[in-house]
Amino acid sequence: FRFRRVSLGDVGSTNDEARARLDMLSGGPYVVTGVRQLSGRGRRGRNWVSPAGNVYASFTLTPEAPLSRYPELSFVAALAVSDAARSFVHEAGRVRCKWPNDVLIDGAKVSGILLETAQAEGRTAVIVGIGVNVASRPTDTPYAATALTEHAPDATSEQVFAALVEALTARIGRWERKGFAAIRHAWLERADGLGEPVVARLSDREVHGRFVDLAPDGALMLENDLGDMVRIAAGDVFRPR
Ligand code: BTN
Repeated sequence: FRFRRVSLGDVGSTNDEARARLDMLSGGPYVVTGVRQLSGRGRRGRNWVSPAGNVYASFTLTPEAPLSRYPELSFVAALAVSDAARSFVHEAGRVRCKWPNDVLIDGAKVSGILLETAQAEGRTAVIVGIGVNVASRPTDTPYAATALTEHAPDATSEQVFAALVEALTARIGRWERKGFAAIRHAWLERADGLGEPVVARLSDREVHGRFVDLAPDGALMLENDLGDMVRIAAGDVFRPR
């Protein structure tokens, strides 16, 4: 399959623009891009600073897999973003994936992914919204952020978008044919901080533990001081300081 592209200029959020065009799905998957977002959204109700020069893209599709497996796509997408980033950064090992779906270069966040679902003609579509900092990065974030051009000065948002489409198409195709196991394995190989202590911040508490695994359903597995395994289904992860 291939993603047909709708290329827009200033938008509120490309995820909303994708949602407004669900009738396009009758012709297969599509992607909506914007030059700039005036109300870009991040995970957990946060905002995503979206000046011109970066990638803002919302890939929209109706997977064959059941709805319960759609969350796996956030790992599929993060892997694809890391594939694309690796094609620009000299030492590929500096590009890592951070649970659940961030991509880091030298430990700083270069990309964020926001998955949303939408009803389209009796089927549930998924909108995979991907932002990649190419020319610029936000400065007031609680985590370290970076832009791809800090590591690959000549990279342009169009080049990065092209690499991303190619990688995502390939990764989704494999996921549909072979399932999540291969994705999970590849993601773990690129995982940031595997085996190291982390703090998971949930809505009502913090969990301290060692990051030991990614569960078959995508949950983060931590081992606490008592040696118990703790499953984290949703939250933010930090390195303890
Ligand atoms: C995060 O890390 O919090 C997720 C950020 C997701 C940003 C992308 S940019 C394209 C798409 N449109 C949005 O409004 N958000 C996503």
